[in-house]
Amino acid sequence: MPDPTRRTVVCGLLAGLVAPVSLAACSSEKPAGGSSGSGGTPLAKLADVPVGSGAIVDGPSGKVLIVRPSENEVKGLDPVCPHAGVTVSKPAGGTITCPGHGSVFDAATGDRKKGPATTGLTPIPVKISGDSVVTA
Ligand code: FES
Repeated sequence: MPDPTRRTVVCGLLAGLVAPVSLAACSSEKPAGGSSGSGGTPLAKLADVPVGSGAIVDGPSGKVLIVRPSENEVKGLDPVCPHAGVTVSKPAGGTITCPGHGSVFDAATGDRKKGPATTGLTPIPVKISGDSVVTA
């Protein structure tokens, strides 16, 4: 009965060696598909997010409002108004306005400036990676 035991040991060793390699290969696929290998899901080209305004794009878990207060600064916000769920407008003049009932939010931070919403827009982590905005 030494053969089955030896075979079992060899198979166990192979499984132990192959599984980590497979996992490593899977985890290295995503960064290779990114713009600069620093991770994150690409959301938009930076050039498509105007300074002083923003863009509403599709993210991995729903829409993302990317605001760009300055050349090298972006912030992600949930564009769904916390008052009653209407999608807010893109930033203009330093504010984000909800067309639903007129709530106003700070364009750089998403903080509430005027109700009826009682809270600000929910942050969504994003960052600049090369010429793109990606999830952080
Ligand atoms: S849904 Fe935005 S103010 Fe009411």
